[in-house]
Amino acid sequence: MFEHLTTAPDDPILGLNEKFKQDQREQRVNLIVGVYQDETGEIPEFRAVSEARRRISSNVKANYLGIEGDQVYAKLASELLLGADSPRFRSGNWVAAQSLGGTGGLRVVADFLARCQVTNTVWHTDPTWVNHQSIFNAAGLQTKPFPYLDSAGKGLDFPGMIAALEQIPAGHAVLLHGCCHNPTGVDPTADQWRAVIEVLQKRNLLPILDCAYQGFGDGLEADVLACRLVSEHVNEAIIVQSFSKNFSLYNQRVGAVLFLTKDSVQAGTLRSQVKAAIRANYSNPPQYGAALVRTVLGTPELRTDWQNELEAMRLRIATLRRRFSQSLREKCDHDFSHIAKQSGMFSFSGLTPEQVVRLRDEFAIYFVGNGRMNVAGLNESNLEVTTRAIAEVVGRVPVSVS
Ligand SMILES: Cc1ncc(COP(=O)(O)O)c(C=O)c1O
Repeated sequence: MFEHLTTAPDDPILGLNEKFKQDQREQRVNLIVGVYQDETGEIPEFRAVSEARRRISSNVKANYLGIEGDQVYAKLASELLLGADSPRFRSGNWVAAQSLGGTGGLRVVADFLARCQVTNTVWHTDPTWVNHQSIFNAAGLQTKPFPYLDSAGKGLDFPGMIAALEQIPAGHAVLLHGCCHNPTGVDPTADQWRAVIEVLQKRNLLPILDCAYQGFGDGLEADVLACRLVSEHVNEAIIVQSFSKNFSLYNQRVGAVLFLTKDSVQAGTLRSQVKAAIRANYSNPPQYGAALVRTVLGTPELRTDWQNELEAMRLRIATLRRRFSQSLREKCDHDFSHIAKQSGMFSFSGLTPEQVVRLRDEFAIYFVGNGRMNVAGLNESNLEVTTRAIAEVVGRVPVSVS
């Protein structure tokens, strides 16, 4: 039965992370996986989440949740995306379900699109998160790229993107990153989002917004601008949400899927179809992580504390971006100024695959092969060592570095 099998390739990100763990060198720097690390290189637990753990510890029940998971949680999660006072949120023309992180949410969406024959093609930015294609392909859908980055690899190819979107056949789905584009850190401006959404609307394309980094870009509210514009201007759309990063709950697998519908009747129909997709996948989600998020979002003082702590993380990443780019400006003539302008955890460094290999082999500094870096993996003790090594591989100019 298994004789014909050959070894599947390592996941480009998690596989590399395994290599990092096996690396015995003392001064190693991990800029691979998209997790927020604090100044000491640890993944911090939010104070509000610790408090939520204490509050719910005596209240965890053993029974299955419903297929769509914790509905109070799903409503709070949707409110965070749409805004409590928004006409869309108030209208009830939406349906939300708990999901197994953002990945699980994307898979529910993919299964839903395939089983209901909504579309057979999902278009995605080129580049996109490495798992996007795999998830949609696994459900039997085809994926196709549209241009996103400019030729320098540092900014948005807005005209190219719009021109490509204009050509996509009506009825296809278009997958966009709600904020903090992974892997590039390049997001459209507000006006560019408006133009993109206008094309989607005009061409009758189904928007799927993947929102995995709310709060890490321009702020909790600013980062859902695209979601809010879509919810205002497009009748039917899908949003996938992850709390892995902004609640630091990576291993709890907490996320949500939100389907925006034309009216409440359609919402009822969609609920039944989403339930069917979930039931055939993992039946129903786990309770604990969602209970933590629900407790924080539903308790005013915990929510405020969470927001403040998240904002501090966001500002710290922005500072690291500036320091990184400044430090490189002092050491080499290669232009890294785009890193300071981009948002979220990731940036395309502009390093070539050969330079990435040299950084790994000679200096134990780990970037993803395409040059993507997790800026949140930098800190006071590794920033200097990292920029020195980068200057070395890109070609140092003679400068004195203390
Ligand atoms: C764009 C994007 N979507 C979805 C996910 C998956 O999120 P989760 O870890 O919650 O499954 C990630 C995680 O890296 C991501 O970068």
